[in-house]
Amino acid sequence: MSTSIESVLQEHRIFNPSPEFVAQANVSGMDAYKALCAEAEADYEGYWGRLAREHIVWKQPFSTVLDETKAPFYKWFPDGKLNVSWNCLDKNVEAGLGDKTAIIFEADQGEVTKVSYRELLGRVARFANALKGLGVKKGDRVIIYLPMSIEGVVAMQACARIGATHSVVFGGFSAQSLRDRIEDAGAVLIITADEQCRGGRNIPLKPAVDEALTLSGTDSIKNVVVYQRTGGPSVMTAGRDVWWHEVVANQSDVCEPEWVEAEHPLFLLYTSGSTGKPKGVQHSTGGYLLHSILTMKWTFDLKPDDVFWCTADIGWVTGHTYITYGPLACGGTEIVFEGVPTFPNAGRFWQMIQNHKVNIFYTAPTAIRSLIKAAEGNPDVAHPKNFDLTSLRVLGSVGEPINPEAWMWYYENIGGGRCPVMDTFWQTETGGHVITPLPGVTPLVPGSCTLPFPGIMVSVVDEAGHDVEWGKGGFLVIKRPWPSMIRTIWNDPERFKHSYFPEDLGGKLYLAGDGAVRDAQTGYFTIMGRIDDVLNVSGHRMGTMEIESALVSHPLVAEAAVVGKPHDIKGEAVVAYVVLKRSRPVGEEAKQIVKELRDHVGHEIGPIAKPDEIRFGDNLPKTRSGKIMRRLLRTLAKGEEITSDVSTLENPHILDQLKEVVK
Ligand code: WT7
Repeated sequence: MSTSIESVLQEHRIFNPSPEFVAQANVSGMDAYKALCAEAEADYEGYWGRLAREHIVWKQPFSTVLDETKAPFYKWFPDGKLNVSWNCLDKNVEAGLGDKTAIIFEADQGEVTKVSYRELLGRVARFANALKGLGVKKGDRVIIYLPMSIEGVVAMQACARIGATHSVVFGGFSAQSLRDRIEDAGAVLIITADEQCRGGRNIPLKPAVDEALTLSGTDSIKNVVVYQRTGGPSVMTAGRDVWWHEVVANQSDVCEPEWVEAEHPLFLLYTSGSTGKPKGVQHSTGGYLLHSILTMKWTFDLKPDDVFWCTADIGWVTGHTYITYGPLACGGTEIVFEGVPTFPNAGRFWQMIQNHKVNIFYTAPTAIRSLIKAAEGNPDVAHPKNFDLTSLRVLGSVGEPINPEAWMWYYENIGGGRCPVMDTFWQTETGGHVITPLPGVTPLVPGSCTLPFPGIMVSVVDEAGHDVEWGKGGFLVIKRPWPSMIRTIWNDPERFKHSYFPEDLGGKLYLAGDGAVRDAQTGYFTIMGRIDDVLNVSGHRMGTMEIESALVSHPLVAEAAVVGKPHDIKGEAVVAYVVLKRSRPVGEEAKQIVKELRDHVGHEIGPIAKPDEIRFGDNLPKTRSGKIMRRLLRTLAKGEEITSDVSTLENPHILDQLKEVVK
């Protein structure tokens, strides 16, 4: 299967929205789309102000839309006050949706639990009261390290209710990663579970919290709240650890929300950049909520009776915007899934779509590609043709480029040739979709994320920050601040400024970190991949430097360089070049060390960061000034011959060593 950019750029198939879809769409037809874009163009603040008044219920209305005085530290709706949890729960109960199902939870083993809006509000209020009882206040940071669960959503919503800033750490991150985030955030409390259930196995979670707190040099954490998922063995530290079910017992199911300023930090979410240290992306309350609502309604065309399913984990931004906040703020019904797509077999997603009559389905290309393979390998069980998927109306893709072959398979086999595929481009930093088709508007081209979301001023520029012609590649930028944008990097405003608003581009453009090209005729955007040292492995964002730091922290390793290489299923695979402090290992010994290093990276960062391939050399290819030539390493990783001149290399002979993969 080809994931190459050339196949996307040569793509000429076009899929127009059907007249029936257009007729019922929330944004209906290209003229409606253009009218929204024109409104934003003509009166930017008027546009966003209007939408913020129409889609959010404010406790105190705002009078200022955008405050640019401290740019690039922009403020949206700064004098408005609201509460996100109220907008997701109380608002819907008051509107008569109390008995409507908010969440359909399906556990790993298949048990289904439904929670109505009224019950969810009660559970959030009780847990919020419990957090208050433990001394958590407005502005405190709370780490959430939970599996996919109703409790995960409740924990996040409860933080939002009392004005605590949550920082969810994906359950696949290690104790070390958890410790770094606890320390950087200065968190006061951790919410975790005894174990998580995935693919028929129970995997301990709480021990990682214990280890993180033992490793930690700070003592900011006062309590750990433990949700009992399996009842497996847990060591509870007296005075610090408390059971979820015990702290919520006897709590009132009424909890007055903390009305916060629109700029109050709703959450921090750590993500990888080009340096070793993950950055705490800080999001706002009002602007973030607005974009989660708008994109639910416009990109997914959410209707009151829809069942929406986003398969992401709440540990990533996709799970924040399209599980915890967006669907609930719209009064929707959504699926929360604990398990994995391949258990009990690779038909699980299709079975669930059939069982729950899912209307809108949102997943990642890596999942689609692996399920294509599974369906072909085991057609009687895993092929979508065995299931009734006619409930589907809209499909979505997120996290990485979707190659035209995967797009077509998704469109035909899952969408029955009837459901538009929304290839949504966005980032942790953007809060929600920034380039995406709208299903009742945009003619679709497989592999292109098409056009900007109305009001997001996206462009492609050269090194000096000037727009490039359509058809020419360049840096993807956003030219004006937008409501759901990152506000700062927690503890590091300088890094925020230079990473996202670099002076070379004039200091005013938001630099996404991706290369892009617009189609010469249609102006459609195609994303060409990261321009920095960030990898995208199975839709998970990882810094090469983070993995390098993890490798060199192993006592055997002198030096390491990590690059990505194209991978059929995962999009990108991690290739590590390693120089040991001792002689270059070969044979069995090399295999042994590879295993040790992979485990070490798993321990330092998490299993998702383990290198797919490790190659050993006596040295790395360096220029005479000592700079590692990553370009050559990428060529070698792809298994291609080096055709460029290597005469500036200090040590050309080691290239041969580095061709050798330890299997
Ligand atoms: C990076 C952001 C989007 C939320 C989940 C990932 C890549 C994301 C697409 C897409 C091509 C995409 C970009 C981006 N990316 N969506 N539709 N087409 N590339 O968020 O972990 O912050 O990663 O994912 O490289 O910069 P993230």
